[in-house]
Amino acid sequence: MTEFSLLTGKELFGIYCAPCHGESGKGDGPVAKKFVPTPVDISGTGFGMAPEGMLFATVTHGVNGMPPFRSDLTAKERWLVVAYLRTLK
Ligand code: HEC
Repeated sequence: MTEFSLLTGKELFGIYCAPCHGESGKGDGPVAKKFVPTPVDISGTGFGMAPEGMLFATVTHGVNGMPPFRSDLTAKERWLVVAYLRTLK
């Protein structure tokens, strides 16, 4: 994982994931409280430790209150976001 791709994952996360999941991934984004159940902790100390293929599938297809990203993000971008999740503490 190069510095460049980590930065990209971070930027993508900030745009597409942080509104709901929070900058930290811990489920404290500004609109998080509107969801039932509220978003889980997806940081590297929480759900972010799940197998990468599973996280990738979640981002691709969505789950319950979470929208799918298959048309907003390319497969490569989805992998970058997944890799970034693991770096969150
Ligand atoms: C519109 C709000 C919203 C956005 C945007 C969003 N999520 Fe979620 N996400 C949720 C909610 C709500 C859940 C909890 C769903 C559940 O388990 O019922 C969730 C759950 C998850 C989970 C755990 C999946 C599981 O099986 O419980 C992961 C991983 C995840 N999100 C990653 C991401 C990533 C990465 C992004 C950005 C590409 C993102 N989410 C964007 C709302 C959102």
